[in-house]
Amino acid sequence: MQNEVNAPVLLDIRDRIATLTINRPSKLNALDYETVDLLLHMLDRLESDPDVKVLIVTGAGERAFSAGADIREFSESVRSGAAAAVRDFVRRGQHMTARMESYRKPIIAAVNGYAFGGGCEIVEAVPLALASDEAIFAKPEIKLGMPPTFGGTQRLPRLSGRKRSLHMLLTGERFDAALALQHGLVNGVVPHAELMSAARQLASRIASYSPLAVAAILTAVTRGLNMTIGEGLQVESEQFAGLVPTRDLREGLDAWIERREPAFSGR
Ligand code: COA
Repeated sequence: MQNEVNAPVLLDIRDRIATLTINRPSKLNALDYETVDLLLHMLDRLESDPDVKVLIVTGAGERAFSAGADIREFSESVRSGAAAAVRDFVRRGQHMTARMESYRKPIIAAVNGYAFGGGCEIVEAVPLALASDEAIFAKPEIKLGMPPTFGGTQRLPRLSGRKRSLHMLLTGERFDAALALQHGLVNGVVPHAELMSAARQLASRIASYSPLAVAAILTAVTRGLNMTIGEGLQVESEQFAGLVPTRDLREGLDAWIERREPAFSGR
């Protein structure tokens, strides 16, 4: 399945994997409000699509994953005052990254170039990310006289630690994919030409498992990270208990005992 070629986000669904491509290459895939709204709309739609098990997010063109929020557009919201800027810019972006963070299906960022500002915040929010060896990351908001606003002050310290994230946030310096890997922003770095096939391979592996177990793991990890360990263990128990009556758990256990491959149905 595909949508119009000029849309700011392209959708391609193949082999249980939905690829969302941020499609404003002439603007280095800057995230204007329309693009954020379309991403949110597509996430809503794909979450309940039984044919989609895993999502990949990437950027169109050769240069950028996303160079961040559209500065010209949100600059106008800033001109309109705090209430409008928070409503139109901050809440919208925070909603997008929160949605990606707590999504019931895995989202893999395939970072194909610049991941600056809001582009980097998408990478921070999604559960898995692979970077091209040509990807370049930065938290450049400080150069604009502002902090990050799509969750970057909150998720980056949780991923990378306080001092390492503060260095990135307070200097705005660029860093490469190897450093992003070292800082826990991505799961791996691959040669540029192999990025999409590596992302699809990872997606296919996860898509072969029970989507119920995948969702339970995503929920337990993501919710648990912001809780005490005791509360997190309670979430873990609840997620497991929710799987007990399902066919997929029975199938997974029976298949192991009978020494055969499981056939998961998502029920
Ligand atoms: N918002 C709006 N437009 C953006 C953009 C952004 N975040 N990032 C890039 N663009 C646009 C540029 O305005 C330019 O469009 P134009 O030709 O119509 O003027 C086009 O994308 C190409 O960008 P350009 O700056 O000419 O490319 P470059 O190779 O010289 O520099 C960057 C690349 C990424 C260093 C530079 O574009 C940049 O600093 N972007 C902003 C990054 C940022 O601060 N993001 C955080 C926002 S909160």
